[in-house]
Amino acid sequence: MASKIILVTGGNRGIGFGTVQQIARLSSDTTTIITARDKAHAEKSITELQSLGLNSPFHALALDVTDDSTIQAAVTEIDQKFGRLDVLINNAGITLLEPFERSIRPAHNLVHNPKHKRHFRPHRHRALPPPPP
Ligand SMILES: NC(=O)c1ccc[n+]([C@@H]2O[C@H](COP(=O)([O-])OP(=O)(O)OC[C@H]3O[C@@H](n4cnc5c(N)ncnc54)[C@H](OP(=O)(O)O)[C@@H]3O)[C@@H](O)[C@H]2O)c1
Repeated sequence: MASKIILVTGGNRGIGFGTVQQIARLSSDTTTIITARDKAHAEKSITELQSLGLNSPFHALALDVTDDSTIQAAVTEIDQKFGRLDVLINNAGITLLEPFERSIRPAHNLVHNPKHKRHFRPHRHRALPPPPP
């Protein structure tokens, strides 16, 4: 069976980077797409992963979850390179240290961001089935 394609938004640092490391440790043939707002930051994290001895396939992509043009560019690139997405890990975001009532809308946009999840839906419909139990 073909290996899985997993995308981790904000995979270049913090919890996202930890998630990417764990995926690579658990499955050496999974392709992990690492996104950051600046593609160079995603590429730098791949160099770091390789220096940790993690040599599963990684792919760097620019993606700002608040910017439609970068979402569309990412969708197109994934379509052309992989044709599908098996798992989308919607990690990217910020923690707003404002009173809840003033920050609910921006917090919802950044943390839950339905926009980019919707864009990736067709790829996820082509995802591989889960392995048999
Ligand atoms: N750490 C905690 O205790 C905690 C607790 C609860 C929830 N969370 C949530 O868990 C997630 C990760 O937290 P973290 O502590 O690992 O944060 P972090 O170290 O600050 O990393 C945030 C990641 O999100 C990316 N990012 C930020 N804004 C973005 C945007 N507009 N579009 C695309 N990527 C964006 C950053 O990429 P760039 O390099 O492009 O900036 C970075 O990779 C966040 O959603 C956060 O709200 C964290």
